[in-house]
Parts: sequence; C-alpha cells; structure tokens
Amino acid sequence: MPNPAIVAVANQKGGVGKTTTAVNLAAGLARRGRKVLLIDLDPQSNSSISYLDMREVHFSVYDLLTDRSVPLDSVIYPTAYQGLHVLPSRINLAKLESTLIGELDAPFRLKDRIETHKQNYDFILVDTPPALGLITINALVLATHILVPIQSSYFALEGTDDLLETVQKIKARPNPGLQILGVVVTLHDRRTILGKDIYQQIVKVFGNKVFKTVISKSVRLEESPAYREPIFTFAPKSKSAAEYEKLSREVLKRV
Ligand SMILES: Nc1ncnc2c1ncn2[C@@H]1O[C@H](COP(=O)(O)OP(=O)(O)OP(=O)(O)O)[C@@H](O)[C@H]1O
Ligand SMILES: [Mg+2]
Repeated sequence: MPNPAIVAVANQKGGVGKTTTAVNLAAGLARRGRKVLLIDLDPQSNSSISYLDMREVHFSVYDLLTDRSVPLDSVIYPTAYQGLHVLPSRINLAKLESTLIGELDAPFRLKDRIETHKQNYDFILVDTPPALGLITINALVLATHILVPIQSSYFALEGTDDLLETVQKIKARPNPGLQILGVVVTLHDRRTILGKDIYQQIVKVFGNKVFKTVISKSVRLEESPAYREPIFTFAPKSKSAAEYEKLSREVLKRV
C-alpha cells in the first residue's frame, strides 16, 4: 500500500481559515471514499469539537506525545462520518513545549508515534495552531505536504515569509521531502475590487501553487462550527459546500 499524503494545514497568522479548511477538507476527502485521519494540534480544540463529543475524549494528542505508555489506538476516535477518524487535542496541549523542554526528540514525537499506523489511511490532515513553535514543527516534521490558507485581506501576505523560512529549515534537515501542496485563498469577497486584487497579488507570489478554488466569505461557514458539523451536512446545497468539494478534487489531483 502506498504511503498516505500527510498534509499540515498551517499559517501562523490567526483566524485565516486553517481549522475550517482542515475540517471540511477532511469531510470532502472522506466523502470521496478516502480513509482520512484528522489530527488536531491546536490546544483550542476547534477541529476536535467539530466531530467529537469532548466528554467522551479521555486521552488526547498531549498524552500521546508525552507518555509512551498511551497506545495510539486509545487516542484515535471514529466519527459519525464514514472513513473519517479524529485524533483530538485538549487545552493541555498548550503546555507541550514546557513539558518537553530538554527532550532532544521533541520535534519528532508526533512522527514517531504515528509511524506504525499511518498505512491505515489515505490522507492524514493536521490542523495547527497560529504559531511556529514546537507544535507546528511536529506537524511539519511528520508531513509530506503543507497547505497554506491565506485570508483574502489587505494584509494577506503578512507573515508568509516567516512561514516559508520555517518550511525551508525543516526541508534542510529533518524532512527534505516536504512539499508545498498549495495555497488556498479563504474568506474571499469577490464583489470588491480589493478582493480581485488580492487574489492576483497572491498568485504573483505563489504562482501555480495557488488553488483555483477560492473559499468565499459565507455566513454558513461562519455558523457551521457552532453546530459541530462539516459544511456538507450542515448546508449541503450551499456555495461553500460546492467550494470545499472543488478544493477536495483539486487536492486529490495534486497529491
Ligand atoms: N469562508 C468563511 N466565511 C466566513 N467565516 C469563516 C470562513 N472561514 C472561516 N470562518 C470563520 O472565521 C473564524 C476563523 O476561522 P478558523 O477558525 O477556520 O481560522 P484558523 O486559522 O483556524 O484560526 P486560529 O488561527 O485561531 O486557529 C471562525 O469563526 C470561522 O468560523
Ligand atoms: Mg484553528
């Protein structure tokens, strides 16, 4: 069986649509018959909450990364969606960096723990927090690809230099195979002249890495986390569902 595509959804800027993209891409790929594992590496747990009843989550990714006696099986939970499993986080993940201080293998913990199980999946998606610290580094060491959501705004490209520099560093040593899968423009407002300009600006910097699919700003996407559902069941006929469906197809074509 071929190795799975492991896609880290990352951008250290906050609120750019990382979680929304990870949650809906996971559902979009599972709908297309792929076996998907969604790993939540954000202590805010927004991806986990989208799919799991957190009262039933006993062990989470923090336990996996800090305690070798915690088996991987005990932190992977099935969801209501066929083919989609979630490895959840809890707020305690915020103390990972201080717990692992002085541990030489700290950046490799996630990769080491997932290694034996990754063949069970076609896709592993990793949602990351808005920072370039140890947690995101663990995602980038594990990943085969990085997917960067960029918010369609005047400050869209702010911070992408730092992100690309981190990717270069990871490629130089621990993970030379890491590739940029693509850049997806999110929270886009096509009606404004600024909106059109921003897309062109992003294409100027990232060229054909920019996905053709653009995720528009929509009330449905804004509401869906509150109902703990991916857009495909929350608003199946919406423009947003069609956009994430299209993005899923583009992703499948690229890996
Ligand atoms: N296309 C969209 N249209 C409208 N609202 C959106 C859209 N995408 C995301 N949102 C909303 O914007 C907010 C930020 O999105 P999201 O949580 O996906 O970003 P993030 O990059 O994961 O944030 P963080 O950096 O805090 O983890 C959320 O309230 C989400 O519901
Ligand atoms: Mg998030």
